[in-house]
Amino acid sequence: MNLTLRQLRVFEAVGRLKNFTRAAEELHLSQPAVSMQIKQLESNVGLALFDQVGKKISLTAAGHEMYQMSRIIDNQLNETEQILEDMKGFRHGRLIIAVASTANYFAPKLYAAFKREYAAITLNLDVTNREGLLAHLESNDLDMVIMGLPPKELDVEAQAFLDNPLVVIAPPGHPLAAQERINMERLQEETFIMREPGSGTRIAMERFFAEQGAELTTGMEMSSNEAIKQAVQAGLGLGIVSLHTLEMEIDSNRLVVLDVDAFPILRHWYIVHRKGKRLSPLAQAFKEFILGNTKNLLQK
Ligand code: PGA
Repeated sequence: MNLTLRQLRVFEAVGRLKNFTRAAEELHLSQPAVSMQIKQLESNVGLALFDQVGKKISLTAAGHEMYQMSRIIDNQLNETEQILEDMKGFRHGRLIIAVASTANYFAPKLYAAFKREYAAITLNLDVTNREGLLAHLESNDLDMVIMGLPPKELDVEAQAFLDNPLVVIAPPGHPLAAQERINMERLQEETFIMREPGSGTRIAMERFFAEQGAELTTGMEMSSNEAIKQAVQAGLGLGIVSLHTLEMEIDSNRLVVLDVDAFPILRHWYIVHRKGKRLSPLAQAFKEFILGNTKNLLQK
């Protein structure tokens, strides 16, 4: 069947009102325009859709069938239009983001604050390491990512919104725990527990030791910040982690941050998406929210 949405809308109105003039008024069209659309529709369908006796019009059997269908389509169109309008007003909608595992220590506070303003939204979140985030950016399969360092190899838009200091951690009983101004020479005598390949923390750590001309002795390798912290507490070596991962362990004196001269390694958190990406209104609102509110929210 060959018909246009416009014909269907005109037909639905005439079928419902049983009156060409009133349908024309409702649709803000002239009556000849309405008659023309119906004529074209009847010719496309190949059957008469209305009977006219004197001034009274009624639906033919074919018209009835067509009318049922036009009501369903009209309802669906209206519903979709409503949902799209809601999305413009951010009352619904889905936000799909990925964050570095290290950033997920503070990011939930941000989602919670955003959700207080936009209650009906759905948040899809992938918590992964740097390598996972790069794969998302490469395939452009989400709204945006929160990561430690924007990739040079991809065309992206990136804005820094928070400091991300990396610090050296040790158990409280470690010989270096009480020392001040530890130098890199002394530090390189220690063995470090490493994050997995593909971790941004690990890349930053390796780069930093190379820049300092210091040797990095590595022991065990673990794929999460939690595992690193546990291993350091157990005395298996020193660790380098983002300060954001530490709050509880420092407060409860299970770990200490060493006072190393060249530290912290100063990094930042960035909100990143592909350059030229058309952000949904909701994604745009989230980005503005992060850029404008993070520091305040995390101070509380
Ligand atoms: P990650 O953190 O170590 O969990 O990959 C990302 C980053 O710091 O770049």
